[in-house]
Order: sequence, then structure tokens, then C-alpha cells
Amino acid sequence: MSQFYHRHFLKLFDFTPAEILDLLALAASLKREKQSGREKPRLAGKNIALIFEKDSTRTRCSFEVAAFDQGARVTYLGPSGSQIGHKESIKDTARVLGRLYDGIQYRGYGQEIVETLAQYAGVPVWNGLTTEFHPTQLLADLLTMQEHLPRKTFPQMAFAYVGDARNNMGNSMLEAAALTGLDMRLVAPSACWPDQRLVARCRALAQQRGGNITLTEDIAAGVRGVDFIYTDVWVSMGEDKAIWGERIALLRPYQVNMPMIRLTGNPQVKFLHCLPAFHDDQTVIGRQMAEQYDLAGGMEVTDDVFESEYSVVFDQAENRLHTIKAVMVATLARD
Ligand code: CP
Ligand code: NVA
Repeated sequence: MSQFYHRHFLKLFDFTPAEILDLLALAASLKREKQSGREKPRLAGKNIALIFEKDSTRTRCSFEVAAFDQGARVTYLGPSGSQIGHKESIKDTARVLGRLYDGIQYRGYGQEIVETLAQYAGVPVWNGLTTEFHPTQLLADLLTMQEHLPRKTFPQMAFAYVGDARNNMGNSMLEAAALTGLDMRLVAPSACWPDQRLVARCRALAQQRGGNITLTEDIAAGVRGVDFIYTDVWVSMGEDKAIWGERIALLRPYQVNMPMIRLTGNPQVKFLHCLPAFHDDQTVIGRQMAEQYDLAGGMEVTDDVFESEYSVVFDQAENRLHTIKAVMVATLARD
């Protein structure tokens, strides 16, 4: 694992296809070790800074628990309470935190911010979500897919990502398909397709690995025969609240519901979501949207699918811990 030592993880393309598989194997082995009750602390004495300019449950808790499990300590820097952004530049913040900490996680806005941190920190920097990419999420998703289809390799798996593909998840999905050779279908209205240059680059790489990337507005063709259906929220953190109405109008036909599950023709299909999900009226936004736009029963996914036997979303959530731990161990621990 020494090839990972002291490297950044800003997007999936920072690693080769073989390195992605190595990280997944490390995550699986760390998961087994934790489950056995005999986890070895490989990060004793390390200090880790967690910068969150946007909110988080899974990513923050996974970094914290992974660090604690491995004997490291963390400092959480939230959207307020530090000088970051308003009184001190990212370049200066990077040079300060790099003197104090062994690794830095960043969640926030533009990809250029996490790149600047990485350029000046002098310690490994990990992307815990930017507007453009969410690479640690994809590691958890790939591990979950391996666990649920242990007899298939990635090029043998078909995957439909349905909904808003012009966001961090859509972009990271493309990179994941390019690196693993998945049969990846992005099923969305063309207004929600990712940048065409990224699509072209990822498609060429995917084809070299025996996979393919298809973009389609045709739901029936897109989901036919897939092993996995994945969706994400229709409006991401940091987007203008004024676009809710427009997005709902565009994406309503792409809601993951039982008729869409049946369209796959695969009774073993699994449903994935990075979470948090609007699938019921138990959240403030979920309730508002249900009333305003007649979306009782769910938005990007219906409650019956979310709560069904098809759904593996909490396996994914748990795998955030094991995969984030693998990233920290690989980049911070010497063999
Ligand atoms: N999936 C994910 O990144 O969740 P959080 O926003 O809770 O970290
Ligand atoms: N696209 C979502 C992902 C949340 C994990 C967002 O950026 O809000």
C-alpha cells in the first residue's frame, strides 16, 4: 500500500483502476477487522482537520469514527467558527493547518478550493464533497456493489444513475465507470446531463476497460436489465432554492418508484442512494415540497422503494466508514 503514502484524494481520477481496486480491498479487510473486534490502530498519534463549509452527517461521522478507530484525533471546523474563507484565504489556511495536522478533509464549494488546499498544505488532503465531485461516496458505493454481487466483476455489472446527473454525483459516477469498466447508464433529461467533455473522456476510458457509458432520456431503455438503480437529490447543497420548481418539473418523470423498479425486469435489482434522501414527509423540505408540488410519498425516490427489500442504502452508509478509513490509512500510515 506504500504507493498511496502522502497522496491527496481530490477526485477518483487521482488513482489508477488498479489502485481503486486496492483501496476497495483494503476497505473490505478493515471492515472485517473491525467486525472481528481486533482492529489495529495504524494512525496512533496522527491529528486530522475536518473542514466542513457545507453540512454533513455521514461524511463527518465516518471521518471521525474512522480516525478514532485507528487511534487518531480530529478537529472539526464547521461552516462558522473559524477564519476560513471570510477572513483568511484557503492558501494561508492550508499552510497553517499543514503545520499542525497530518491530514485535512475538505467539504465545500468549488473543486479549485480543495485543489488549492492540496497545493499548499504539504499533507494529504481528501475531498469530502465539492460542487464538482464526491469521490469518497463512490468508493462506498463500489464496495457495496461488490458485496451485493460478489460473483460479478465491475465490467459485468449494469448500473443506472437516474435523476440529476449534472452534479458532483453524476461527475463522480462517470469517473467510476471509466475506472472500473461498469456498464453505466445516466438516465436523465438532457438539461441534467454532465459536461460533454467529461463524458467523452470517461466514455473512451470505460470502453478501453470493456465497459460503456450511455446517456439517455429514455427511462425504459436506460434501466432495462440493470443490477443497480441509483439516484440523488434533485437540488444539491449550495444550489439556489429558486430552482426547486424547475427541477421538479424536469425530473418528476425520473422518480425512482415501483413501476421503474419493475421496468428493470430484474427481481434482484438493488436500489442505491448516497443519502440524505427525500422519500417521505419527515423532513422540513420534504414536507414543504410534498405540499407545494403534490409529491406525497417521496421526491427522487418513493418511500415504498426506499423501505423495500431492493434498498441497500444503509449498507452504503455504513461503507462510508470503511472506505474513508481505507483512504486515511493508505495515505497516512507507512507500511
Ligand atoms: N452522502 C453524504 O455525503 O452524506 P452527508 O452529506 O451526510 O455527509
Ligand atoms: N448531490 C448532493 C450529494 C449529497 C451527498 C449534494 O451535493 O448535496
